[in-house]
Amino acid sequence: MTKPQIWVAAFLLLFIVLFMIGRLTKEEEVLKDLSGMNNSSMGEQTTSELTGDKLIQTFGCINCHGADLAGTNMGPALKGIKEFWSSRDNLINYLRNPNSFMDKDRFKEYRSKYPNQIMPAFSNKDVKDLGKIADYLLTQ
Ligand code: HEC
Repeated sequence: MTKPQIWVAAFLLLFIVLFMIGRLTKEEEVLKDLSGMNNSSMGEQTTSELTGDKLIQTFGCINCHGADLAGTNMGPALKGIKEFWSSRDNLINYLRNPNSFMDKDRFKEYRSKYPNQIMPAFSNKDVKDLGKIADYLLTQ
């Protein structure tokens, strides 16, 4: 290589190194931004990474429906409910507003079986989370 060629090569190398350093630090900033955004938009709790069965624990469903979803004296079992609910949307609607299903025979029966408990409305929860719960319950 001639002297000018060596200079050109040296400059090129320098630019490549600077470019890579620039990219690395930028990526870090983007990652920081993303995690900050998640925390503020999710309120005090981050639920977006939780699976359906974890959400069922987090939202306290197991307090009434049992850790294994086999039911307790405070709420019915949540196994095999896909026969009744069949559709995911139906089930999400129920979780958001259980009262609107009360006129069905199934729930009249539950009312006499669990007279001191009612299924709370979970309309304050993210619909995406309720969707994950519905998907999970429809496989049980
Ligand atoms: C305070 C107790 C309680 C909690 C907490 C609770 N449930 Fe319920 N749930 C009930 C009761 C009682 C019923 C029976 C219907 C009624 O009496 O309102 C019921 C009914 C249901 C049904 C209908 C069952 C069927 O056979 O069709 C589903 C589905 C359900 N609950 C899911 C959930 C999920 C998911 C959560 C958590 C996000 C939850 N429940 C939290 C008490 C509870």
